Amino acid sequence: MSILRIEGGHRLSGTIEVKGSKNAALAVLSGVVLAQEPVRIFGLPRVSDTKAKLTLLEQIGAVVTHHEDHVVIDCSNLTDAEPDAELVRSIRTSFYMLGPMLARLGKARIPQPGGCRIGARPVDFHLKGLALLGAVIDQSGGSYVGLAPKLRGAEIYLDFPSAGATQHLMASAVLADGQTIIQNAAMEPEVVFLADFLNKLGAVIEGAGSSTVTVSGVEKLGGGDYRVPADRLQAGTFMLAAAATGGDVTVTSVLPEHQAPVMSKLREAGVWVDQGPEWIRVRGDKYLQAVSIKTMPYPGFPTDIQQPMAALLATANGVSTVEETIYESRIGHIDELNRMGAKIRLEGRTAVITGVDHLQGSVVEASDLRAGAALVLAGLGARGETHVKNVKYIDRGYEDLEGSFTSLGASIERIPIEEWEATAQWSG
Ligand code: EPU
Repeated sequence: MSILRIEGGHRLSGTIEVKGSKNAALAVLSGVVLAQEPVRIFGLPRVSDTKAKLTLLEQIGAVVTHHEDHVVIDCSNLTDAEPDAELVRSIRTSFYMLGPMLARLGKARIPQPGGCRIGARPVDFHLKGLALLGAVIDQSGGSYVGLAPKLRGAEIYLDFPSAGATQHLMASAVLADGQTIIQNAAMEPEVVFLADFLNKLGAVIEGAGSSTVTVSGVEKLGGGDYRVPADRLQAGTFMLAAAATGGDVTVTSVLPEHQAPVMSKLREAGVWVDQGPEWIRVRGDKYLQAVSIKTMPYPGFPTDIQQPMAALLATANGVSTVEETIYESRIGHIDELNRMGAKIRLEGRTAVITGVDHLQGSVVEASDLRAGAALVLAGLGARGETHVKNVKYIDRGYEDLEGSFTSLGASIERIPIEEWEATAQWSG
């Protein structure tokens, strides 16, 4: 347990390379269950969520070998053992192993999933889709118990373009008999990354990245090498941090087309943004303009960036609005930003942000991953010291966030909680 201590007011400058995508990696670590030969994965982000997922894979019989720049995962001898409930509850995507396990083993048991507390996060689309693929799934003693001697292709329409359901059902259909068509599929880049990964191992998936994904079932998947693409949400976080500190940062290993809504809103707010084939440069301005934002499924404005964006807009001139349409309670950042002097009120699902001159450092608590990122951004731009508690949430998705910001000139350090609590100034 640690806290992050940030001394605000340092302009960020320099170049930063984005690391591997947490959400792409987590999807790949579910899909890998389908492979009957070893798979080498490069660029796996070293975050707590991927570590937990590797342990889950080991619990169902995978052999995981760590090397300096890659991991080898061998799922040739899986068992139908039920993975540890607490570990499963710690990450949402553990549930996305159910379909691939059924495809491989014909039966599987998995405890109910968890993840960041940002809304109800049901799994009904997943269950309906798996049923259409021929699985029989019951709930028993807090676990899902599935049986599927052989999955068969199906036509699946999603009521909402859920990233997780699209990835889970697409992977589940890979070894099914016949063709599966997923309509109203999510178009997130992470869906495309997963399709690329599975196709590399021998799957036949077409249309990923569009609203209709077609999977033609194959007999088996082999092994292969895969590199996890860069994390667009991490890239967005760095871009916003540059703007929040009036800095000048070039983010590399980033695909500008994945950042279109974030770049557009930054420009609208008066931030100078330039882009090249795999880089984006952001130069912040002291005077930001208020903007209105509404989160949407990809290619709309990402829900994952609305909380950091609210931190940035807290000091913009005028009244900004940030409407969250994907998750009903992704709002854990608001009270904490107000603690730092922001003026944000919630109207339904919209944060109404009246810009203030500056934020003031304070002791704040992360309630989920992106709320944590928002508080770090706020701290970087604020006057005085900010102490962010509950860093475990940030560690779920950002590898060495303090190291990244330090390399750009920030003053940020991680302090063990005992050491921090021993400091009388903050212990009350
Ligand atoms: N939904 C349902 N039923 C379902 C599945 C989803 O109603 O069966 C609803 C959800 O409750 C939500 C909406 O559909 O309101 C969208 O959820 P989606 O399934 O798209 O989200 P997810 O797959 O659970 C992934 C990312 C999230 C990211 C969202 C949206 C991972 C591990 N998580 O979640 O990332 O916010 O897509 O893009 O890939 C994060 O990284 O901080 C994070 C939460």
